[in-house]
Amino acid sequence: MSARRVAVLGSTGSVGTQALKIIDASEELVLHSILCRSNVDLLTRQRELYSPGIAAAIMPGKGCPSWISTGPGALREAIEGSDMVLNGIVGSAGLEASLLCRELGITLALANKESLVTGGELLDDFVRSGRVIPVDSEHSTIFRCLQGERRPVLGITLTASGGSARDIPYHELKEASPDRILTHPNWNMGARITVDSATMVNKAFEVIEARWLFGNVPVSVVVHPGSIVHSLVRLGDGSWKALLGEPDMKVPIQYALAYPDLHITALSAEGPLDWGRLEFLPLDHVRYPAFRMVVGAGEEGGTLPAAANAADEVAVEAFLAGRIDFGCIASVIGEVLDSHESLPVSVMGDVMDADERARDRARKVVRRLC
Ligand SMILES: NC(=O)c1ccc[n+]([C@@H]2O[C@H](COP(=O)([O-])OP(=O)(O)OC[C@H]3O[C@@H](n4cnc5c(N)ncnc54)[C@H](OP(=O)(O)O)[C@@H]3O)[C@@H](O)[C@H]2O)c1
Repeated sequence: MSARRVAVLGSTGSVGTQALKIIDASEELVLHSILCRSNVDLLTRQRELYSPGIAAAIMPGKGCPSWISTGPGALREAIEGSDMVLNGIVGSAGLEASLLCRELGITLALANKESLVTGGELLDDFVRSGRVIPVDSEHSTIFRCLQGERRPVLGITLTASGGSARDIPYHELKEASPDRILTHPNWNMGARITVDSATMVNKAFEVIEARWLFGNVPVSVVVHPGSIVHSLVRLGDGSWKALLGEPDMKVPIQYALAYPDLHITALSAEGPLDWGRLEFLPLDHVRYPAFRMVVGAGEEGGTLPAAANAADEVAVEAFLAGRIDFGCIASVIGEVLDSHESLPVSVMGDVMDADERARDRARKVVRRLC
């Protein structure tokens, strides 16, 4: 059997760099292409180390070497000819790549949750075709727990670590510094998702993502500080099925890249005696006010979730740049959602238009709050 050719989009990011290591260690996977936004230095090192067929950058800046594919066709070039695409791009910019996989009929290992948050309607038939394999650890868990289950399940429960905001006293939370918020207790991830974990916007996105991936099944969230139980499914007889293990994104990345039956290797030697107490707590909505707003936007649908994502992207960027307080991220999202005219989504332009309107509005709110 010939090796599976994998395109790694967002190769310079947290998910992307881990995916490259997994592909490198596998005899059944080969690296078709790597793609980033602008980190040409790291892209150059990755090319030397892993020898992909194609290396591409969307916004490479000046002095970009000629072997890097750039320009409007670079994304298509990176994807075409691959057997599987790992979409590890951050933000709504990832939607175009997911839609291109749908158009070209290429199996998609999906880390970019914003694809389903902003453009779930556009990807619905692709998801139903069985060619979208989740990479987010919670959704990978649910996907695995549902394997072999022929009867309907009663519900899905996503676990949340609580992020770095979990242990910060209420009175210090509003003004917590970017350094403090970027120190995640369990996971080592990109900056945006780490901040989103602290606001629980990430978990709200995951609720939306779960609805698109797993259909009309009730989705709930519990805080599980240890991140050992990676989510749970409640079966028809009321019992629960879960996947346990130490937090390591390489596990769901490897699972998706090797799905359904390529060789996988054990990534951890730890077991139950290493895990300590498995604790579960209800979500504290006072600590995480943005969670309900974003879940509500997902329930209303249309362009509202895309607006929530755009507002969050602008707010997180402003927070990381020291322009607004941590506590203001939820205010920006709330104001944008309150003023957003939600329209139906039938083409990508609908999402892009909503994204632009929401970004404009979010920037104005940020300027006022600064
Ligand atoms: N990190 C995790 O553990 C984790 C877990 C579950 C899900 N996810 C999801 O996976 C996605 C990636 O997260 P991450 O933490 O890996 O992010 P990250 O570390 O910030 O990396 C983002 C990657 O996307 C690239 N990128 C950004 N804008 C782009 C654009 N317009 N076109 C092409 N590439 C672009 C970046 O390139 P440059 O380096 O050149 O900017 C970088 O390679 C997110 O949707 C996140 O929610 C991540």
